[in-house]
Amino acid sequence: MSVSGQLGNARFHRFSTILLFLNRRWIFIRNTLIISAIASVIVVIFLLVTRNQPEQYDTSFVDPYYNDSLGQHLIIYRKGWSGNPPKISPIPLQHPVDVVIVSCDFRKFCNTSNTCSAAVRNLQKFHQSINHFPDIGYNFMIGGDGHIYVGVGWDFKNIIHKKASIGINFLGNYVYDELTEDMVDAFHELIVQGLQLKKLSNSFKLVGENQTNPKVYLSPGVNIYKIIKNWSHFYSGTWF
Ligand SMILES: *[C@@H]1O[C@H](CO)[C@@H](O)[C@H](O)[C@H]1NC(C)=O
Ligand SMILES: *[C@@H]1O[C@H](CO)[C@@H](O)[C@H](O)[C@H]1NC(C)=O
Ligand SMILES: *[C@@H]1O[C@H](CO)[C@@H](O)[C@H](O)[C@H]1NC(C)=O
Ligand SMILES: *[C@@H]1O[C@H](CO)[C@@H](O)[C@H](O)[C@H]1NC(C)=O
Repeated sequence: MSVSGQLGNARFHRFSTILLFLNRRWIFIRNTLIISAIASVIVVIFLLVTRNQPEQYDTSFVDPYYNDSLGQHLIIYRKGWSGNPPKISPIPLQHPVDVVIVSCDFRKFCNTSNTCSAAVRNLQKFHQSINHFPDIGYNFMIGGDGHIYVGVGWDFKNIIHKKASIGINFLGNYVYDELTEDMVDAFHELIVQGLQLKKLSNSFKLVGENQTNPKVYLSPGVNIYKIIKNWSHFYSGTWF
């Protein structure tokens, strides 16, 4: 073989090594692309499936029924405000309960059954989806329409307050809004019902939410506080 032939061979050899190397690189790149494409598809499908998964509810749950109205105030159960069932069966309360906790939701004041029902629905949506509570966090809510909206009611523990209590929430922001006489009357009628049904102990304590948790120092709002602090069951200490 001639020198030039040998040189040619060597060049060819180097060239094919480069080609092989390129080939390997390309195969590597191609495989990496395929694998990452498959991985992305799997991730996207997983995200879609988990995102579209409907919320799980305890559809067998039925709200315990007491009365349709108290005085001139309607009692609007979950069906009436188009609420979702709880996500898991609620925990029964031991009666009689010793504490009533008054709070407000710091949202827009409502004054019709449509807007108050929507406010209660939104509150439940917030509690169930964002806070991951099994149900709306209060036993009852009172709207500016003077009606009583049933949350978990007299017979189940509310999730907001760890210890056994009845949580009654006024819809609105009572740092600015004012309770109407109608709302105050609805509250009293509800308390009277609780005493009659022996859901509340005769010596129950009434406290503002800020007396139960320093984090919610504004609730129930000065404009509610100034009223409840005059009531006979009002207890001025803290109750954690
Ligand atoms: C509530 O309904 C019961 C019967 O289910 C009745 O005995 C009671 O008087 C009613 N209470 C009020 C305050 O309307
Ligand atoms: C109800 O509230 C709306 C605005 O939130 C207000 O314009 C209206 O006057 C209120 N109606 C009554 C009867 O208070
Ligand atoms: C609760 O709120 C009222 C009204 O804003 C206030 O006067 C009271 O001191 C607060 N209590 C606590 C324990 O924060
Ligand atoms: C609370 O009671 C005091 C003393 O009885 C009274 O002066 C005040 O007006 C009452 N406040 C409210 C908001 O009812």
